[in-house]
Amino acid sequence: MLEKIFGKKTVVAASSISDRMTTVKSKHIPAHVAIIMDGNGRWAKRRNLPRIAGHHEGMKKVRVITRIANDLGVKVLTLYAFSTENWKRPKLEIDFLMKLPGEFLSTYLPELIEQNVKVEMIGNFDMLPEHTKKAISKAIEETKHNDGLTLNFAMNYGSRLELVESVKEIVALVADGSINPEDIDESLIGSHLMTAHLPEPDLLIRTSGEVRLSNFMLWQLAYAELSFTDVLWPDFDEICMLNAIEEFQLRNRRFGSVEGNGDV
Ligand code: FPP
Repeated sequence: MLEKIFGKKTVVAASSISDRMTTVKSKHIPAHVAIIMDGNGRWAKRRNLPRIAGHHEGMKKVRVITRIANDLGVKVLTLYAFSTENWKRPKLEIDFLMKLPGEFLSTYLPELIEQNVKVEMIGNFDMLPEHTKKAISKAIEETKHNDGLTLNFAMNYGSRLELVESVKEIVALVADGSINPEDIDESLIGSHLMTAHLPEPDLLIRTSGEVRLSNFMLWQLAYAELSFTDVLWPDFDEICMLNAIEEFQLRNRRFGSVEGNGDV
């Protein structure tokens, strides 16, 4: 009843993070959480800092959210770190963003390894600067046998481009006679996406009050629960993550059917 009156506030009230984690873990944990990390620029502007200071602070939150996602038992955390549209930003900002994987991984890779985290990437790898490729490749290589959380960076990623590439691959298979047009179904298309080996996201979080998908995992998010918060990404902490997952746990997911699963 109180929950109905006060909504989410009742759910997030009281108790320490660890108590809340215990409660959250006793319910259904989303296997795949995808996050559009937005608001770094505004965070910096409010402090009269350059935009890159916001990105740097945002990088620190990647560490915090990776840790709690892993502790909660999330299997995949996909973070939208750089879109195919972000090349339109000023060169200085792009250069800074391209250096972040190197800085993040040179600082935190040992910690990720200790936490059994597996680093992966979706997006166009070839177009990235050499130093970015090197940092990401090293992390992928050194964590490839880990079987805890998959920390999946969407880097130079665009969903439409991903779909275009998958269509080209499928058309080539039809052209060389490997498959017939009738063989094309949802699962075949899914198997030609960069996320083919991953479960579809159960929960999408976007920070900073923007309510759009911005060319992010358009196919994969078809049945995801969406969570939008006004919190800017550099301020998004463990409490915010728990709030989002608790909100997810209260949803009744029906996947187009009439009956929900009664749980999520
Ligand atoms: C959008 O905020 C954010 C980005 C384009 C970059 C996100 C990157 C990080 C949070 C760091 C990634 C870390 C690693 C390790 C790769 P915005 O700049 O559009 O913010 P605004 O809308 O307030 O201007």
